Amino acid sequence: MKDVKKVRRQVRQEQNNKRSLIVHNDPKAIGSEAFRTLRTNLQFTSPDHELKTILITSVGPGDGKSTVSANLAVAWAQSGSRTILVGCDLRKPVVHHIFKTSNAPGLTGHLTGSASLDEVIKPSGIEGLDVIPAGPVPPNPAELLQSKAMANTITQLREQYDIVIFDGAPTIAVTDAAVMASQADGTVLVIRAHQVPKDVALHAKTLLDQANARLLGVVLNGVRPQDQKNYHYYYYYDDRDQAI
Ligand SMILES: Nc1ncnc2c1ncn2[C@@H]1O[C@H](COP(=O)(O)OP(=O)(O)O)[C@@H](O)[C@H]1O
Ligand SMILES: [Mg+2]
Repeated sequence: MKDVKKVRRQVRQEQNNKRSLIVHNDPKAIGSEAFRTLRTNLQFTSPDHELKTILITSVGPGDGKSTVSANLAVAWAQSGSRTILVGCDLRKPVVHHIFKTSNAPGLTGHLTGSASLDEVIKPSGIEGLDVIPAGPVPPNPAELLQSKAMANTITQLREQYDIVIFDGAPTIAVTDAAVMASQADGTVLVIRAHQVPKDVALHAKTLLDQANARLLGVVLNGVRPQDQKNYHYYYYYDDRDQAI
């Protein structure tokens, strides 16, 4: 009985992961196009500043930070840039689930000195994209993220890759996101549509401002089709001229 439950859970996790990586699994979907548009818009937000390291954060857990980070990273790799996705939500490691790598030693293993950077960089299975899973949950995430070792890691990744995406922690509960925001060239705030009240979203922005984040923009995640009248939508057609 336990085994059946375990298998069901694994199947659900597999389906979830497949859906999560839409840019790779269904490149023609409207959602995939949205991630490519996000990439292009981010590339054009910073004509005067170098934009090499981007933090993805949100107000709380479950808003879609890991989903947005992973798909944005795939979209960037698809455009020919050497890309790396770094799991920086040390309290809730997810990157290894999405890309089916091992979690350990991961970023925490490297920051605590038990593995070299080369050892924690994993191929994602997608051309041009490497990943660093967050690693086992440490007792002191904020301390690790603001350590000299983390600053050195970011410097090395900047040299080795065209674009570095940090899958970050939420802004509200802990200081981890603020620590990362101050170290990234730019920050993207994911807001879960219909779930995050406006004043809470504005408070997140204030926290990021206080951390000297350069807020590049907001991703509204989970917009429903019936919200169409409230948002501008783009429609795309595939090469058989059918709406997709
Ligand atoms: N737009 C969406 N539509 C449906 N499910 C989503 C969407 N965005 C995220 N999810 C799902 O919500 C859950 C939490 O997303 P995740 O990206 O892990 O959030 P976070 O990193 O902010 O904690 C995951 O199961 C993910 O697949
Ligand atoms: Mg996450």
